[in-house]
Amino acid sequence: MWLAAAAPSLARRLLFLGPPPPPLLLRLLSRSSRRRRRRLHSLGLAAMPEKRPFERLPADVSPINYSLCLKPDLLDFTFEGKLEAAAQVRQATNQIVMNCADIDIITASYAPEGDEEIHATGFNYQNEDEKVTLSFPSTLQTGTGTLKIDFVGELNDKMKGFYRSKYTTPSGEVRYAAVTQFENVIDRKPYPDDENVVEVKFARTPVMSTYLVAFVVGEYDFVETRSKDGVCVRVYTPVGKAEQGKFALEVAAKTLPFYKDYFNVPYPLPKIDLIAIADFAAGAMENWGLVTYRETALLIDPKNSCSSSRQWVALVVGHELAHQWFGNLVTMEWWTHLWLNEGFASWIEYLCVDHCFPEYDIWTQFVSADYTRAQELDALDNSHPIEVSVGHPAEVDEIFDAISYSKGASVIRMLHDYIGDKDFKKGMNMYLTKFQQKNAATEDLWESLENASGKPIAAVMNTWTKQMGFPLIYVEAEQVEDDRLLRLSQRKFCASGPYVGEDCPQWMVPITISTSEDPNHAKLKILMDKPEMNVVLKNVKPDQWVKLNLGTVGFYRTQYSSAMLESLLPGIRDLSLPPVDRLGLQNDLFSLARAGIISTVEVLKVMEAFVNEPNYTVWSDLSCNLGILSTLLSHTDFYEEIQEFVKDVFSPIGERLGWDPKPGEGHLDALLRGLVLGKLGKAGHKATLEEARRRFKDHVEGKQILSADLRSPVYLTVLKHGDGTTLDIMLKLHKQADMQEEKNRIERVLGATLSPELIQKVLTFALSEEVRPQDTVSVIGGVAGGSKHGRKAAWKFIKDNWEELYNRYQGGFLISRLIKLSVEGFAVDKMAGEVKAFFESHPAPSAERTIQQCCENILLNAAWLKRDAESIHQYLLQRKASPPTA
Ligand code: BES
Ligand code: ZN
Repeated sequence: MWLAAAAPSLARRLLFLGPPPPPLLLRLLSRSSRRRRRRLHSLGLAAMPEKRPFERLPADVSPINYSLCLKPDLLDFTFEGKLEAAAQVRQATNQIVMNCADIDIITASYAPEGDEEIHATGFNYQNEDEKVTLSFPSTLQTGTGTLKIDFVGELNDKMKGFYRSKYTTPSGEVRYAAVTQFENVIDRKPYPDDENVVEVKFARTPVMSTYLVAFVVGEYDFVETRSKDGVCVRVYTPVGKAEQGKFALEVAAKTLPFYKDYFNVPYPLPKIDLIAIADFAAGAMENWGLVTYRETALLIDPKNSCSSSRQWVALVVGHELAHQWFGNLVTMEWWTHLWLNEGFASWIEYLCVDHCFPEYDIWTQFVSADYTRAQELDALDNSHPIEVSVGHPAEVDEIFDAISYSKGASVIRMLHDYIGDKDFKKGMNMYLTKFQQKNAATEDLWESLENASGKPIAAVMNTWTKQMGFPLIYVEAEQVEDDRLLRLSQRKFCASGPYVGEDCPQWMVPITISTSEDPNHAKLKILMDKPEMNVVLKNVKPDQWVKLNLGTVGFYRTQYSSAMLESLLPGIRDLSLPPVDRLGLQNDLFSLARAGIISTVEVLKVMEAFVNEPNYTVWSDLSCNLGILSTLLSHTDFYEEIQEFVKDVFSPIGERLGWDPKPGEGHLDALLRGLVLGKLGKAGHKATLEEARRRFKDHVEGKQILSADLRSPVYLTVLKHGDGTTLDIMLKLHKQADMQEEKNRIERVLGATLSPELIQKVLTFALSEEVRPQDTVSVIGGVAGGSKHGRKAAWKFIKDNWEELYNRYQGGFLISRLIKLSVEGFAVDKMAGEVKAFFESHPAPSAERTIQQCCENILLNAAWLKRDAESIHQYLLQRKASPPTA
C-alpha cells in the first residue's frame, strides 16, 4: 500500500492505479519483517509460511498525484477512463509495474518534465497477481514526469472494483447504478466529449491510500445535517426513501464530534456522505468521505425496522466513521496490519454506540458477539496469529475474519482496560498525529501507547498478536487464616483440550480478581507473566466466592477447581454475579465441555441455574450454545429430548415476558422477547406455536400487522412447523416486501422448513433473481443450519452449483462465509474427509484456511458426540422421569 502525495489542484477525480511504493516504505517492510521473524524465533514459533510467491510493487517509479477521469456507460455496462498521474522516476528504468485488474489499456505514455512523450510499446498483464508491466522503448531517466493511460473496462456484476448495482425505481423499473469497491483490490480497475454527458469535477483529496477512493453514479435521494463540529453530513437513500436515512444521519452527526473529542483530531474532510448500495458484498466500506453501505446496514424505517437493525446500523456507522481516522488518516503499512484497522474499528464502534445509546448495554453484547466468537475460532489448530504475513491478493481476502475483527477488538479492549482510558486516549492522539497522511505498523501504535502510559505495551501485546491462540488459566484456592491463597497456572487452550507438549506458548495476561464482597470491582489486578503464579487475597472470609476475569475483559478462559466453581454457581441463581460475569462463566464451561475437559452434563446443570436470568445478552449467549448443542444432537435419535430441555429452560422467562411489550420496556426487552419466543417456537413449545400461528394469520390477512420485533420469531416458528402453503405465503411476503430488511428477515428463516421438497425449493430460490447475490449465502446457510436434512441438502447443493457460486463471488470473502455456514455443523469423521477432498478438486484459494477450520470443527464435533452423547441422553431421560424443581 502506498500513498500519493498531493499535487497542484487538478480538475478531475484524483486517484489511483498504482505505480510502486516509495523505496523508503519497501525498505522499512523488509527490515521490520526480519525483526519479526527473529522475535518469533525467540518465542519458539515459526512465522507462517508465505504460501504463494508474491512481490510488492518495485520502488523505482512512484506516484505523486493522480488525476482520473471516468465515463461509465450504464446501458452497455462498460466504462472508459483516462489517467494522468504525476510520477517520480527514482531509478532509471524502461518499465513501470503497476497494480491493475480487469481493465484493458489502450495507450500508455510517460513524458519526462519538459520533454517529449515516450509511448509504451508493451503491456504485460500478470492477471493472477493483479499487475501490469508497461515496457518503454527507451530508458526513463530519474526525475519527475507525467504518466498517461487510456483504458476501458466492464462494469461487472461481481460487487468488486467498478461494478453495476441493480435497483428498482418506485414505479417498478429495473435500473443500474455504477459503484466502486476497491478494498482489498489495492488500486485497480477504472471520459467526456459528448454534449449529453454531464461532467462532474471533484476537489483534490488529502494524501491518501488508493483503496479508499470511491465513486457512485446513480439516482438517490438524501437527508442532510451539519454536525456540531461543522461537518456537512448526508445520508443517500434509494429514491423515495429519504426518511429511512434519518436514523443513520442522527448517529453519524453524533459520532463525528465524539471521535473528534476522543482522538483530539478533527475530522479531516469538509463533508461526509453515507450511501446505501443495493448490491454490496461486504456490510459497509469506509471510503474516505463517501462511505458505502448495504441497504440493511444504513436504512431504518420507524415502523418496519426491528430493534436489532437499529443497533446494527448504529454499530456499522460507528465502525466506518472510526476508520475515517483510524485507517484513512493513518493507513496500515501492509495487509499484515489489517487487524489494526479492523480490530480497532470493531472495538471503538462499541464505545461510540455506548455513547449514543447507553440503553443498549452494548458492551455486554460485545462479549457474546465478538469475544466468545473469537475464542471459538482461535482455539482451533488452524487459527492464525492476529499479525499474519500476507502476500498474494487471495491471502488478503482470507484475513477479513473473526481473528482480525473480533480477536483484534477483544485484545484492544483488554489493552484499553490495562492502560486506562486517559492514557489510552493520549496514546491514540500521539499515534494519529505522528502518522497522519502516512502509513503505520502495529509496532508504531504500541510505541505511542507505551510513551503515553509508561507500561510495557509491546512486550505484553506481542504475546497476543504474534502468536495464535490464548491461555486457559487454571485456578485453585486455599483459605489461609483470614486470607485466600490462589494458585494460578496458564496453558494454551485448544478446542481439543489443553495444549500438550513441552514448548507451550505463554502469554502476559492482565488478570483481575473479584470477590462476593464487591462483585463489580476488582479486589486485585495482576499481570501474569509466568506459567505459574501464587496470589494472596487479603481478608477474604471462608464463605466468600472468588472470581477471575471481572467483566470478561481478559482474553483467556478460566477453569476453576471444583470447590471454587461450586461456590460461584449460587451467584448465577441469585444474580449476585454481574451479568457479563455470568455470561463469561457459562461460556467458559460450555467450551471446556466441548474440549472434553469437563462433562457436557455439568454444563446442562449450570444452564438450569439461569432460571431467574433477566439479561438479554446472557440469554442470547446461552441460547447460542444450546443451538450448537441441538445441532450436534441432531445427529442422534434423542434430538427431541434436547428440545424438551430447551423448552424447560426458556419457558419461565417466556412466561414472564409474554407477547406484548409492557409500559416502560425498552430496547433490550424487545430483543429478549424476540429471542425467547423464537427459541420456544422453534423448539415446538405448544402455546408459543399456537399464538405464533394466530398472529401470523392476522398479519397475512392484514388484520393486525406484526410489530417488526416479532416478525423473525413468528416467521421462524410457523415455517418450521408449517407446510408448503406456509412457505408459499412467506415467499409471497418476500416478493411484496419493499424494504431489503424485510426480505433478509424472510430469507434467513426459510431454511427452517423441514420437508425435503420444501428444502429443495428454498435452495433453488437462493440462486434465483429474487435474492440479491450477497444474500444467497444466508439463505443456503439457513438451510444448512435449519435441520438435519437441510444440512445434507445444502452441502449437495453447493457441490452441484459450485461453479456458479464460485463465479458469483469471484473467490472473495463471501465464499468463505458460505462454506463455513454450510459444513461446520457436520459431526461425522468421514465428512471432514469428504469436504477436504471436494475442495482439493475445486480449489477456493481465499477460503483455504476456512476449509481447514471447518474440517477441524467437524472432527471436534464427532469426538464430542462420541464422548458425551450417551451421558447427555441418560441425563435428559432421568430429568424427564423426575423433573427438577425450580
Ligand atoms: N473495510 C471493511 C470492508 C471490507 C470488508 C472490505 C471485507 C473488503 C473486504 C469495513 O470497514 C468493514 O469492516 N465492514 C464490516 C462491517 C463492520 C461493522 C464489521 C463488514 O463489511 O462486514
Ligand atoms: Zn472495518
